[in-house]
This record gives sequence, structure tokens and C-alpha cells, in this order.
Amino acid sequence: MSTRNENPSGAAEPMIGATGLTKQYGRSQALRGASVTLRAGEILAVTGASGSGKSTLLHCLAGIVRPDEGEVSYGRERLDRASENRLSELRRTDFGVVFQFGQLIPELTVRDNVMLPLLLAGTDRAAAQDRADEWLERFGVRGQAALRPGELSGGQGQRVALARAWVTGPKAVFADEPTGALDSLAGEQVMTALVHAARESGAAVLLITHDAQIAAYADREVWLRDGAVHSGATPFAVQEAAHHEG
Ligand SMILES: Nc1ncnc2c1ncn2[C@@H]1O[C@H](COP(=O)(O)OP(=O)(O)O)[C@@H](O)[C@H]1O
Ligand SMILES: [Mg+2]
Repeated sequence: MSTRNENPSGAAEPMIGATGLTKQYGRSQALRGASVTLRAGEILAVTGASGSGKSTLLHCLAGIVRPDEGEVSYGRERLDRASENRLSELRRTDFGVVFQFGQLIPELTVRDNVMLPLLLAGTDRAAAQDRADEWLERFGVRGQAALRPGELSGGQGQRVALARAWVTGPKAVFADEPTGALDSLAGEQVMTALVHAARESGAAVLLITHDAQIAAYADREVWLRDGAVHSGATPFAVQEAAHHEG
């Protein structure tokens, strides 16, 4: 199945475009004129040292944080100007988010965690359960459906988080260091599952990572330094800085 959205020239269309983003937190300037485009169906890796603004950029693109200045466009819609209601609607329907850890609700079973976004979007329980089980199966954690998050390995937990991000059929998935807390084997399993899901669903993925081996799964890579986005070969100094903080 290919739902990739390509224009006649063969280049995937921009889906989310950000230009000139700035964001200040107290005295720290997290973004200083960051611009980036996420194209339909692509996996875009964003690398950079700790504190370079990667998470802030992701939050701005996903409509979680509003930039101080600059534009974020999702198709024809301006996310930097959208209402809170519209942004939370988009996060329920069009966007999925995966963080490094801690995003599953510990009191709920794995299956209930994955059903939750569907229930919030108004899907009935039986359909939500079927869909949740289908995505758990695809991510290889169907057998863990009745467990609580605390009973999972790190890699299983991240695959459940991916299932939850994909269960609503998002157009874009934002993953902030999804393998950052995993050993390399579990990290590879998570990435293989992520790439499969992206290709099958046609969703675009913005993937933040410190790890060059993880970035290698992406179609394209950009890097951040001091709150601005750069493309082309990642300078050795940036690779080193990213590598050393693990
Ligand atoms: N919610 C926040 N409150 C205060 N400072 C923040 C917040 N988020 C980010 N920052 C600061 O902004 C800068 C960029 O942070 P961040 O986007 O998290 O970078 P990265 O993900 O690359 O490590 C850092 O100096 C960080 O301390
Ligand atoms: Mg971060």
C-alpha cells in the first residue's frame, strides 16, 4: 500500500513548514530563527547537542508549544495562530507523539493505553479495542496487551507508545529520542517497527535522535545548533557532542 503523497515532479510535498521560529524560556533562547520542512511521507532526523533546541522545535511543529515569532504551517493552516481547541483536536487526530520515556499511563493496561486516544476521539469501545490490538500486533507487543507499563521492558514500552501514536491514523508522528533510553538491540527493534509503520501508513515522521546509527534510518537529516536548523553533512563537532551525551 502506498499512500505517499507525491507531486508530479516526484518530490514529496511539504506537510509541515516552519520558518523563522524563535522561542525564549526565561534567559535561555531555545530557538533563534529555526526553519524546517517536514514533507509528506518522509522520515526526517533532527540531531544536535543537548540544549540546541531539538525538543522545542518538535513541540512547536506539533502544536504543543507556541513559538514567540515565526510561522508554522500545516497544509494551509497556520498552527502558530491556531486556537488551543484546534491544536488539541489536531493532536488527537492528525498528529502522534512519542517521547523518550514515561508517556504511558501506569495505572492502565497496555491495551487501554493504546485505546485511549481513540476513545477520546469518540470511537466506540469495541472498535477501539480491535484497532488497539491490531497496532499492538504490528509492533510485536500484542502478547503484552493485558500488562501494565511497569511490567514491560524499555523496548516493549516504546513499541506500545508507537502503537498509541499510530492508532489514530496520524498524518505526522513526532518522536523525541524514542530510543534514547534503550540499548542498541532494543533501539534497532523500535526503529525497525517505526520505519515499517511509517511506510505502511504513509505518515511523515520527525525523529529526534542523538545517535548517528538511529539517524541513518531516516530519509533525510538536519541538525540544530544554537536554536537554528542546518542541513548538509553534520559537522564532526556536532556528531561528537551528540555522541558523548548519549
Ligand atoms: N520548558 C522550559 N523551561 C525553561 N527552559 C527550557 C524549557 N524547554 C527548553 N528550555 C531551554 O531551552 C534550551 C533548548 O532546550 P531543548 O529544546 O530541550 O533542547 P534539546 O532538546 O536539543 O536538548 C535549553 O537551554 C533548555 O534549558
Ligand atoms: Mg530534547
